[in-house]
Parts: sequence; C-alpha cells; structure tokens
Amino acid sequence: MENNVIILAGGQGKRMKTDKPKVLCNVLGEPMLEWVLTACENAQLDKICVVKGFAAEKIDEYVDNRESKADIATVLQAERLGTGHAVMQAKDFLEAHKDGNTLILCGDAPFIDAETISGALELHKQKGCSVTVVTSRVENPTGYGRIIRTDDGISGIVEHKDCNPYQLAITEINSGCYWFRTADLLDVLFDIKPENAQGEYYLTDCIELLISKGKLADAYISRNPNVALGANDRRGLLMLNDIARQEIIGKFLDDGIEFTCTDGVSIGNNVTIGAGTVIHPGVILRGNTTIGENCILGNNCIIENTTVGNCVNLNNVQAYESVIEDNVKIGPYVQLRPNSHIKRGAKIGDFVEIKNSTIGEGTAVAHLTYIGDSDVGANVNFGCGVVTVNYDGDKKFRTVIGDNAFIGCNTNLIAPVSVGKGAYTAAGSTITRDVPDNALAIERGQAAIKEGYAERKLKARTEKFENSRK
Ligand code: UD1
Ligand code: CA
Repeated sequence: MENNVIILAGGQGKRMKTDKPKVLCNVLGEPMLEWVLTACENAQLDKICVVKGFAAEKIDEYVDNRESKADIATVLQAERLGTGHAVMQAKDFLEAHKDGNTLILCGDAPFIDAETISGALELHKQKGCSVTVVTSRVENPTGYGRIIRTDDGISGIVEHKDCNPYQLAITEINSGCYWFRTADLLDVLFDIKPENAQGEYYLTDCIELLISKGKLADAYISRNPNVALGANDRRGLLMLNDIARQEIIGKFLDDGIEFTCTDGVSIGNNVTIGAGTVIHPGVILRGNTTIGENCILGNNCIIENTTVGNCVNLNNVQAYESVIEDNVKIGPYVQLRPNSHIKRGAKIGDFVEIKNSTIGEGTAVAHLTYIGDSDVGANVNFGCGVVTVNYDGDKKFRTVIGDNAFIGCNTNLIAPVSVGKGAYTAAGSTITRDVPDNALAIERGQAAIKEGYAERKLKARTEKFENSRK
C-alpha cells in the first residue's frame, strides 16, 4: 500500500505584500514550503504533489532547484475556489495512487512534524478510518475550523465563519492536515458544494459526506502545540520566526549547549552543535552547518553550510561553504569565502579574507591578509599585510606555499607562483618567480640613502627666497 502527499500551496498571501507565493515566504531563512517538504521526507513519504496557484512558476522553479529525496510533482489550480477545489486539481495524482492513503497538508503551516504525520497515520490505519484529522487544542481558536467530537470519533468540522455560538466555544481546531484513504476521498471529493459563508469548496465537507456513506472519521490530537500555526501577514511571519528560533534554541539547551544571551541568535533547522559549545549574542548558523564540541562562537558569527570541528574558537567570523578543523582559532573580523579549508590548529587573525584555499595545520595568518586560490602547507607563518595576487583581470591563478615557509610582511605573491618548503620572502617583496625550498627571495627596489639631502634642499630654498627680496 502506497502513501502519498498533497501540499496546498495556491495562496497569494496578499497581506505579505510580496510577488512570491505565500508558501515561499521564509521562516528562519527557509521557505515555509521547505519546512513542510522536510517534514514529509522525515516521515519517509516520497510521493508528493504540490498544488500551485498564485505565481505558480516560482513554485516550479523552487521544486526544480531543490535537492529532493522525494519525487515531487506540481499541478496548477487556475482559480482559488477553496481547499476542496485545490485538491480536485490533483485528481490524476490521486487516481495514480488510489490503493493507498493520502496526506493533505497546508504549505503555509511550517511546523508540521514527522512524529505527528506518522502518529496520525497509525491511528488512521488502526481504526480503519476513511479520514483522520490532525487537531490541536489552542487558547484562541479564532479563524480555525472547529472539531465536532462524537463518542467514537468526529462528525465534522465547522469553519469559524459558519459556527454557531456553541461551536465558537470549541477549542479543538483543525490543523489543516489530514490522512484520507485515497479511494474514499476520490469517491466524495467531487460531490462537495460551495454552499457556505465563504462560497468556497471546503475540503472539510468531505468528512460529513464520508460519514453519511457509513465510513469512519476520527481526529488525532498532535503533541506539537505549533502544528496548526500559519502566517497571513508579516507580523504573523515574524511570530513564526520567533517561535522557531526559541524552539530550536530550547532543543540545543537540552543538548548541553550554552547560550550566554540569545539576542540576535538564529539557528537553522538543519544545524547540529556538539555539547559544551558556547554561543554568544548575534550568532547566526544557517544551512547544513555542523559545529563540534566545546567550541566558542563569539559575537556576531555568521556560519553557513560549513563544518566546524571540536574546540574551535571563532569571534566575529563569517564563513560560507567551508571546513574548519579542530583547535582552530579565527577572528575577529575574518571572512572565509566558499571552499576554504582551515586545518587543525591553524590561527587566523584580524581582518583576514580567505577564499578557495587550504591553510595547513598549525599555520598562522595573523593580520590584514588576503589568501585566494592558494594551497598553503603546515606551520607557515604569514607576516602582516600579505596578498596573494590571484587575478589578472581576466583569469585566476593559484599560489602554492610549502610547509614551514615564512612569508614576510607586506609580500605580494603574483600567481601562478610557488614558495618552497622552509623558504622565506623578504618583507615588502612582490614575488613574481617560484622560490625554491629553503631559499630567501627578495624582490624589491634597491635601497638608496642620500646623506645630507635635507640640508641641501633647505639651503637652496633659503637662497631662492633671499634673491626674490632683493
Ligand atoms: C483551512 C481549513 C480550516 C483549518 C485551517 C488551518 C478548510 C475549509 N478549512 O482554513 O478548517 O482550521 O485551514 O489553517 O479547508 N489553498 C489553495 N487553494 C485554495 C484555497 C487554499 O491552494 O483555493 C491553500 C492555501 O494556500 C493554504 C491552504 O490551502 O496553504 C489553506 O488555505 P486557507 O485559505 O488558509 O484555509 P483556511 O480558510 O485557513
Ligand atoms: Ca489558513
């Protein structure tokens, strides 16, 4: 038996004031749709159909560019006539998976989770239901559909705008997530009518139709208090961000991570952090980032798609698509651009930029240095103000520096060029030729000292002045 998913993502979200579909608005840097797709993949669901509507091409673009474990198709809902109408557009998809169960999710409710999805499916199968609704008990049910309970299940869902005063007081709400037996859903889906306060085809009307045919409907109360939360405007979106941020920080606190102050701290959904690591204010960890144990992430670090080892100390560092090994110390004010690999025990000091380069074990780059497109060996020492001159305005070239080399202050290394093992470059040199192992390279103007120059100059000026007064 095959299980599959339909994600409703047709909405515009007018109040977001964006030209994107609402589901592509970000929570902690990831589109809401991404959160929902990740939950499906975590629940091992791999057949997904996304119903697109407003700015549909942007949904296609997102799905096409995503590295997905699941097989994701899209269908277009040309007019937004309600959640039931949206599901009707996926008729071919439903028919292709007729012998299984279909999970229906809202693309704008990002906090759905794999445990809820699997827990609801278990109840659904165990009780032999035609439909199982995921619900949540909330303090303020305004705007949500209310769950009408019976002795052995539910009898239906009433939308907020269609509720009588008694129903308005119900606090168990429809999260917008359901498991349907696919064949049963197809059996009633095209019978729903837009006869309600909003003139829409309500998906929720399928429940009463199924019950009238003698089928079973039940509700699964999620343990996740945020399961139904969505956003209709920017205030709502910011609230989702804050909830997600605190939720993730809370998990890391339980894992033994220390936060000295959470101001400005934001950690993405796909980040892992080892125990004993300390996080200071303003730290932002994004994408597929892994931080090891016992690290110190000082103020204002931004780390994206980067792997950081154990006992690493970073302070005001921005790192993108890079690798930082154990016992490295970096900062303050350092940028690692993509494809930088800093090996064990290296030290990178203030105002250094590194790009597409390897820095060997124990190497020190203390201050004011640019290293681009370079392969630097172990225990190299860089003086202050070194520049690898990697770009001639047309092409990029590599610089290679051997183990134990010593690069003097203010050296320019004009790539392609290599400095041998143990070799030195003299301060202020502009190195244009390869330096052999253990050699000293000096490439700078000859010194010239003109004794008494200032006195001669002063005398000439004085004479000129006196002549002019005669
Ligand atoms: C729906 C439920 C309500 C539930 C709530 C949870 C119905 C009738 N009501 O209400 O019981 O408490 O979700 O959030 O289903 N969409 C389309 N095309 C459409 C209409 C909607 O793709 O024509 C998409 C939206 O983009 C959104 C999702 O379906 O992702 C839910 O739609 P929304 O309009 O927010 O439903 P609600 O009225 O909030
Ligand atoms: Ca909604």
